[in-house]
Amino acid sequence: MAILRITRFGEKVLHKKTLPVTDLGPTTQKLIQDMYETMYVANGVGLAAPQVGVPLRLAVINVTPEEKKNQFVIINPLIVKKEGKTESEEGCLSLPGVGGANIKRYKKVTVRALNDKGLPIEITAEGLLSSCLQHEIDHLEGRLIIDRAGIKRRLEMLWAIRRLKKEKLW
Ligand code: NI
Repeated sequence: MAILRITRFGEKVLHKKTLPVTDLGPTTQKLIQDMYETMYVANGVGLAAPQVGVPLRLAVINVTPEEKKNQFVIINPLIVKKEGKTESEEGCLSLPGVGGANIKRYKKVTVRALNDKGLPIEITAEGLLSSCLQHEIDHLEGRLIIDRAGIKRRLEMLWAIRRLKKEKLW
């Protein structure tokens, strides 16, 4: 396994829609394993393929990282049911050192996807898992939390990135 470099806000791959996964062969299996490892090392609860520079519709998730058995991958995911509204603080590994933002999400979602064996899975979630699923699926559409943040927070984040770049910390 390998730790992959995490792409940052401004890199093209993060800002465009991804392509469906059509092959679950060894290359994709290795990508999935490397993404799990990269997510754990970075202390994240989710990681989407564009965040490791790969423009494919795939993300790994584990909202309880101390329990490795709870990890799963969503391949070609779709939100098929959305209920209610909620708002909570989210951060993103592709926006390091910038802090989080309050993001409005659906309270409860049902997601259909394929697992690593190409079998259909359906997940209905609330709370952190629900936000995480929506956050990762946003990544697959080329959308980051900075795009969903309120105008004031968005500007603060853009200034923070500018400052980090100036100080060569980005
Ligand atoms: Ni993110």
